Amino acid sequence: MIIPVILCGGSGTRLWPLSRKSYPKQFSPLTGEESLFQASVKRFGSKEFTPPIIVTSNDFRFIATEQLLDAGIEESTVLIEPEGRDTAPAILAAALVQYKKDPNGLLLVAPSDHVISDDGSFEHSIRAAIPAAESGDIVTFGIRPDRPETGYGYLELAEQPDDDVRPIKLQSFVEKPDAERAKELLAEGRYLWNAGIFLFSAQVIVDAFKSYAPQILEAVSISVGEAKPDLSFTRLDPEAWGNAPAISIDYAIMEKSENLSVVPFNGSWSDLGDWASVWRETQVEGMSTKGEVTVIDCKDTLLRSEVDGQAIVGIGLENVVAVAMPDAVLVARKDSAQDVKKAVTILKENA
Ligand code: GDD
Ligand code: MG
Repeated sequence: MIIPVILCGGSGTRLWPLSRKSYPKQFSPLTGEESLFQASVKRFGSKEFTPPIIVTSNDFRFIATEQLLDAGIEESTVLIEPEGRDTAPAILAAALVQYKKDPNGLLLVAPSDHVISDDGSFEHSIRAAIPAAESGDIVTFGIRPDRPETGYGYLELAEQPDDDVRPIKLQSFVEKPDAERAKELLAEGRYLWNAGIFLFSAQVIVDAFKSYAPQILEAVSISVGEAKPDLSFTRLDPEAWGNAPAISIDYAIMEKSENLSVVPFNGSWSDLGDWASVWRETQVEGMSTKGEVTVIDCKDTLLRSEVDGQAIVGIGLENVVAVAMPDAVLVARKDSAQDVKKAVTILKENA
């Protein structure tokens, strides 16, 4: 049995103004009826998986549990982080909870901001990854890149990848290269994107923290040891948690580990990280969940209204994103969509 660990504590600032500090993107139905979080949890509903461990922040605990029930998931463990310290401490907390029960248990860590086709190829890749994880590897899942994206990690294979779904040893892991390096890696042909999903045993990941991030291991071990139940949640101890450096698993562990392998994933996959990726995923010129969108003579343009009864009109636009909320409107060039993060920082400073 595999234990799914779903991370849903991120704030998703690049999808402002839809994604807000109090209600981030993973809880919104960005492209379909259900939220990305619900789709992520339901992906692990088959009999190979135990009920999930959800790791989230205090602010999102009720949104998460409400959405779990709404998706028909009645059994889960919800760990509450006292504050967001990025993905390394969050993943380690879940791993330590499992470690106490059975260090050999396999954890499948998945983010909650992805769209993945449900055609069985994802489960096929997971099944193919199990032997490598059981023999002590940290298994990543690789996506064939089609552009020099700077928002992803890159996985270096020893050989040119083929379409075989089998574990391949990794030479190195490069997290979020700059634009120039990303172009070089794409041209090399031996790199896959890191899907942000990992399979490993609790023992293996705890050992990796022991080697590469002992400070995080110390802080998080105390925090998990001192955790208190609160309603149906498990509340990690805040004092010790505050001593864990805030860093992602990619920088803290993956870039340093030597026992990495990758299983290619050939289905459709998208990280809905910014508005350009929402556009790529949906390809809908005018997209409305509430208001009325009218598009005249526009190209590569995403217009979206989240306000009941509001009209939004685009005429003769190209490469534009406009998103209207009741209290904020974003208008941007689509190819500058990553910079929405900068705007959110400025707005916070002026608030
Ligand atoms: N619980 C918790 N606490 N979850 C968090 C936290 C935290 O402090 N920070 C982020 N998350 C969650 C996010 O909600 C998301 O579901 C997931 O962890 C990944 O975080 P992102 O911030 O979205 O990471 P990223 O997209 O920049 O990069 C990662 O994913 C890429 C693929 O989508 C990396 O693993 C890259 O290497 C990878 O290519
Ligand atoms: Mg992401």
